[in-house]
Amino acid sequence: MKPVRVGICGLGTVGGGTVNVLRRNLAAITARAGCPIEIVQVASRSQPETLDITGIEFTTDVFAVANNPNVDVVVELMGGYDVARDLVLKAVNNGKHVVTANKALIAVYGNEIFEAAASNKVIVAYEAAVAGGIPIIKSLREGLAANKILGVAGIINGTGNFILTEMRDKGRDFADVLAEAQALGYAEADPTFDVEGIDAAHKLTILASAAFGVPLQFDAAFTEGISKLSTVDVSHAQELGYRIKHLGIARAQSDGIELRVHPTLVPQSQMLAKVDGVMNAVLVEGDAVGTTLYYGRGAGAEATASAVIADVVDIARAIHSDAEVPVPYLGFKAESMADLKVLPIEEVVSGYYLRIQAKDHPGVLAKVASILSDNHINIESVMQKESEEQNGLIPMIMLTHTVKEKQINEAIAQIEALDDVVGEVVRIRVECFKG
Ligand code: HSE
Repeated sequence: MKPVRVGICGLGTVGGGTVNVLRRNLAAITARAGCPIEIVQVASRSQPETLDITGIEFTTDVFAVANNPNVDVVVELMGGYDVARDLVLKAVNNGKHVVTANKALIAVYGNEIFEAAASNKVIVAYEAAVAGGIPIIKSLREGLAANKILGVAGIINGTGNFILTEMRDKGRDFADVLAEAQALGYAEADPTFDVEGIDAAHKLTILASAAFGVPLQFDAAFTEGISKLSTVDVSHAQELGYRIKHLGIARAQSDGIELRVHPTLVPQSQMLAKVDGVMNAVLVEGDAVGTTLYYGRGAGAEATASAVIADVVDIARAIHSDAEVPVPYLGFKAESMADLKVLPIEEVVSGYYLRIQAKDHPGVLAKVASILSDNHINIESVMQKESEEQNGLIPMIMLTHTVKEKQINEAIAQIEALDDVVGEVVRIRVECFKG
């Protein structure tokens, strides 16, 4: 059978991994695809020093790949927004299929790109954009197609999870762990994307659309990072039986969907709490299947290449079966997309961990409890520490049952206004998942 000819744009960590895995596993990949996958051209800012590209045409111009008549599939592995968008649209308008690992591109420009792909009758595949090697897009769009998806929650940024794990287990310094993640090739070019939750919000936006059949709405996602997280809260959470994870959560409510990334207390007994280091995991709850969990490497050369090449194989199969796009881009037919709004963070429902610094006076705990009660907030547990010698303040730690965020905001404002309470109340959301 005629080979499918691939042009790769970007020869960084993932580009190099893709070349190596395609060559190493060529026989198995050919058997699965039904035809050989041939890399005919690669583009990169400079000639690679360590990667062997013998026999492959090299260019520094990525648009030469999108315009190359010998290329059937353009693989975009450069990252970033604007050049990647122009390249992908150029390739699509030239009638080429596209595989991309670029979550920022899909989260921000995906609606436009999918529309262009549909008009040009080509495929744009993006499995590698979310959770690296974990086939979560395929699971949502195909394996779970029978289900009404109730919610998705994921550890979808390996760098952030690595930092939280090292801080918790080894008491390591935030900056030191981040530098190691950068050296290992896990962190984004701009590491604030990792620690402030932007990278996770890109991925969550894509997951939510594939889960609920809504257009991609990155701008509506709520993001809170881990950079302000204090080690005292990490250790109080442990004492209460929880671990703090940086989660992306998308959940269906009756009048919209929650779309949020923030540090979250998760019960230590749950599998999501045990996902450590750079590993990723995505929990999906479907009405028929119940709770399912997908775990694996979310970044790195060959793990991400695994997802990139799987997409190329899908395209090769589609090319040879003469099918139109076999699976809708977000799993739902364009004419059947839902018109559900993303709810503002005030409408989100969650449990809360509160840490309140109070003067050691009689009746403070009672006043705080009465504010929570007046706001219809049910307290789940209370932990009061001895006063801190240097300032004479007592930390009061509370866990609440689930309430709307606007109720907790109101209560926090009233607690912070008490004369006996000092500084801001620390608030971290708590989630207990089924299963
Ligand atoms: N910076 C990302 C992470 C890379 O740490 O998970 C994969 O998207």
